Amino acid sequence: MSVKSTFDSDVATTASLLKRKPKSWPVPAPLTEHGNATIIPIVNQKGGVGKTTTTINLGASLAELGRRVLLVDFDPQGALSVGLGVNAHELQLEETVYQVLMDPHSDIEKIILKTSIPGMDLLPANKELATAEVTLVNEMGRENFLKRTLASVKDYYDIILIDCQPTLGLLTLNALTAADGVIVPLQCEFFALRGFAQLQENLEKVRLNLNPSLKLIGILATMYDKKTLHSREVLERILEAFPDSVFETVISQTVRFPETTVAGEPITTYAGSSGGAASYRRLARELIAIGGAR
Ligand SMILES: Nc1ncnc2c1ncn2[C@@H]1O[C@H](COP(=O)(O)OP(=O)(O)OP(=O)(O)O)[C@@H](O)[C@H]1O
Ligand SMILES: [Mg+2]
Repeated sequence: MSVKSTFDSDVATTASLLKRKPKSWPVPAPLTEHGNATIIPIVNQKGGVGKTTTTINLGASLAELGRRVLLVDFDPQGALSVGLGVNAHELQLEETVYQVLMDPHSDIEKIILKTSIPGMDLLPANKELATAEVTLVNEMGRENFLKRTLASVKDYYDIILIDCQPTLGLLTLNALTAADGVIVPLQCEFFALRGFAQLQENLEKVRLNLNPSLKLIGILATMYDKKTLHSREVLERILEAFPDSVFETVISQTVRFPETTVAGEPITTYAGSSGGAASYRRLARELIAIGGAR
């Protein structure tokens, strides 16, 4: 970890917007025991809000803190896999999450890939995952398939992050059923809140019918541009509407994130001393400090 990246001065926060002193989230103690993973889908049915970027970079930051992290690509676009340098479209069906989802006898450990980040693994996906959505419709317990799949590795990992596709279809429903809590990235733009109302209704339905203990861990403001009044106004509106549910850490807009996709690695290694890396590292510490993960 570079020295500069450990400073939080480059990171935007809701506290600085509200003219409060930002908290200083401590570096958590290393875990003495691993396992009993907290399962956290990164969800928003709106496209392009930073779900995949958050999955990769929060995951890498948690791994830096000594956590055993599994990232699950649960979007047929395969962007998470590609963002970690995996040529997802060349993978056979048997080498992806589809296989373990549909065949309870398959060996998940053979399908999980190591990433370039020590401690962070990947369950990859490609476009064939879309067929699971269709096949699952007629299956008994169709919302429970991912939960059953992850049960076999839950004891090894500390945190499992699931990169969801931008819909509230059956795949996302599977992620919400498997979840302990969700993180919702909201892009700091005008219609952000409108989509979130619909997502909240769905979370409530999942709580009622499938997963009573499902929590909203936090809303993460993304692509924030402190130079524009619009971005600041939207963030203020989000804070007014959900004063207790927004992560203090805010992810600013920077071209470094699109660059990392091309590089196929997290920002924490691609540009380790950048503000973008510092913000996801701060988010990882905040997530642990507020009890969203251990
Ligand atoms: N903070 C940021 N600043 C600038 N660009 C960003 C930021 N976060 C993500 N991006 C870029 O915005 C685009 C969309 O981000 P990302 O793929 O993470 O969103 P997503 O919610 O996963 O999209 P989808 O709904 O299509 O899966 C990508 O090109 C990504 O590199
Ligand atoms: Mg995505």
